[in-house]
Amino acid sequence: MNLREAAPRRDYLSVAPDCEELGRRAAHTIAETVHRRSDAVISLTTGHTMAGVYKRLGELCRAGTLDLGATRLISSEEYAGVGGGDLISLFGWLRRDLLDPCGVPPAAVLRLAGDAPDATAECRRFDAAIDGLGGIDLVVQSIGPNGHFGFNEPGSARDAPSRVVDLAASTHQSNSHYWPDGARVPERGLTMGVRATLRAKHVLLLASGAPKAEALARAVEGPIGEDVPCSLLRLATRLTILADAGAMERLRR
Ligand code: PGA
Repeated sequence: MNLREAAPRRDYLSVAPDCEELGRRAAHTIAETVHRRSDAVISLTTGHTMAGVYKRLGELCRAGTLDLGATRLISSEEYAGVGGGDLISLFGWLRRDLLDPCGVPPAAVLRLAGDAPDATAECRRFDAAIDGLGGIDLVVQSIGPNGHFGFNEPGSARDAPSRVVDLAASTHQSNSHYWPDGARVPERGLTMGVRATLRAKHVLLLASGAPKAEALARAVEGPIGEDVPCSLLRLATRLTILADAGAMERLRR
């Protein structure tokens, strides 16, 4: 298939009035996946967009309507050189926001160890472990201002494996807000690849706020290609994009 000629499909796009409702609906999709199959394999990301999702999942766990005890969770990115026990690690963020509130032991989660002595081998291990789980049922990702997902920055190929990447300058800059003042933000990251993401049965992409509007318009209405990694998600077996009003601002149709 000529990727650049693929027509934009819009039937997978769903709009939430605001970020809070977006979080509730995304949490609902995750909970539904778990209710269908308690040992579902679900890959999760971190970031501000996910905060509302994890808040809602925590509420469902506390209310006893969701149990993640048998669910096989994957944490899809980590900063290079940063251990999972480090407070500023992405895994630490997932732990505080989701694992601890939902009573999921951190050791049960498949993750990329940012401090592995051989990061390339660590990424190979991660991909092999995903294969060992029988693939992924649901991948949850959020779009970055430059169209990335995870640390799959512009230039990522559709068959890119999990790997070590240089963070784009804009990613490095936006991520610096998550770090304490004066901290040296890592310039590299380990990320689940495009290939493993596209092999998932269902990809849920979240877009929240006006800073994501241009990237979302390019991902949905532009050509499918490496320049906008989220556009590659249109090649997924099943894609749902959940966007709030701010993120929808630049869609033309
Ligand atoms: P955010 O990050 O949810 O914190 O906006 C998304 C991203 O840039 O990958």
